[in-house]
Amino acid sequence: MTSMKKHNINNSLNLYKKAEKIIPGKTQLISRRSSQFAHGINPIYAKESKGGYFIDVDDNKYLDWMNAVSAIILGHSHDYVDNAVKEQIDKGSIHTVNSALELELADLLIEQIPSAEMVRYTKGGGDSCALAVRIARGTTGRDKILFSGYHGWHDWYQSANYLVNPEDGEFPFAGIEPIGVPKALAGTAIPFIYEDIENLKSLIDEHGEDVAAIMLEPMRSEFPREGYLEEVKDLAHKNGSLLIFDEVSCGWRMSVGGAQKKIGVTPDITAFAKAMSNGYPMGAVVGSYESMEPADRMFVSSSYWSDNIGLSASKATIEYLLSNNSEKWFEDYGNTLKKKVTEVMDSSSVNVKISGIPSGPIIQFISEESSEIPLMKTLFVQEMAKQGVHMSTVFHPTMSHTEEDIDITVRAIDNSLLTIEKAQKSNFEDYLEAPILNEPFRRLVK
Ligand SMILES: Cc1ncc(COP(=O)(O)O)c(C=O)c1O
Repeated sequence: MTSMKKHNINNSLNLYKKAEKIIPGKTQLISRRSSQFAHGINPIYAKESKGGYFIDVDDNKYLDWMNAVSAIILGHSHDYVDNAVKEQIDKGSIHTVNSALELELADLLIEQIPSAEMVRYTKGGGDSCALAVRIARGTTGRDKILFSGYHGWHDWYQSANYLVNPEDGEFPFAGIEPIGVPKALAGTAIPFIYEDIENLKSLIDEHGEDVAAIMLEPMRSEFPREGYLEEVKDLAHKNGSLLIFDEVSCGWRMSVGGAQKKIGVTPDITAFAKAMSNGYPMGAVVGSYESMEPADRMFVSSSYWSDNIGLSASKATIEYLLSNNSEKWFEDYGNTLKKKVTEVMDSSSVNVKISGIPSGPIIQFISEESSEIPLMKTLFVQEMAKQGVHMSTVFHPTMSHTEEDIDITVRAIDNSLLTIEKAQKSNFEDYLEAPILNEPFRRLVK
């Protein structure tokens, strides 16, 4: 057994027990369920977050690499954004009539995002995806969506689960059925395999003029192969369909203009959310005049889409990112992180590597026995938490993270790999203090 002091999260566990009784599903976001981490070790409830750290309800302090599943990009409670929001609150969190901020943010988005000529707002990622799909269907007068990636909780998307066996289904979350999603929607959203252009071609041949849009996360942790997104765009347009990018997760860190700016392929419509407002609810759907303008005649309307909090937070976040050359910052920081982590991994006998783009590096455990990988991952997440580092196997750095945070992480990884090494030589059961963590939902995109 490890010699480290027993990590106490009793208050978290008590709250979680209470949640079991009064909150179906226990959390609002599946990625915040305790089963996604080392249950009993990783914190479940926090009381304060600042910069790259948070304090849980048991007064443990953690270095945070999750950062609200990437929604925090500048750091928790970031002064520049929070001051802009506080100033705005004093002037009104939402007006009765419209706010000019709506146009100021739209100007900023149009300036930065290559495909943006018109802008609509939402309050979150799934919301943005649902709106993008509504607009694409309305603009083309067609119903079907071919997609690749994770696009949220809404009916249009979850109906794709009817196309697979929920128990061993490849998509999107084995074990979760589309309960409550109208069966009439089955076959209206169809997944395709990322980077498999033949698979996409055959779906287009099959569904032809019914296809409103091809929608995909253009990338996640790796760049797509050269020319892939151009081919997808070409296929979409030859078929009279629109191309939608879901940049809810890949936008902002890599570039304020999104992955599309970095890769050089412009879609017709793009869904954004998460990091665009550093932790305040906000989302946007942007696109070309031709694809967005018909929304003028569609019923797309909601009270809080243009509240002043989200607008001012997003405007301040983008201003800060731009004036601090965020694109280069994330590139340099991620490269340093990857280099130092690689060094410590190379000195370990555990088969593990760090890969992915600098703004979102991922740790991959490798084993000849596939059943050993979840054990390695769980033990890793558990041991990191015990040393005060809260993470899965993905890093979501923020601009508040420092070189010292990298060094703390590297030391913790070194220790965690030593424990995994010992477990591999004897028995994982002797070292695991948590059940094997659940796989996050499958996103189809690397
Ligand atoms: C690519 C992508 N699209 C959509 C969503 C859904 O966003 P939200 O959880 O804000 O509804 C996510 C969330 O992880 C995402 O990564």
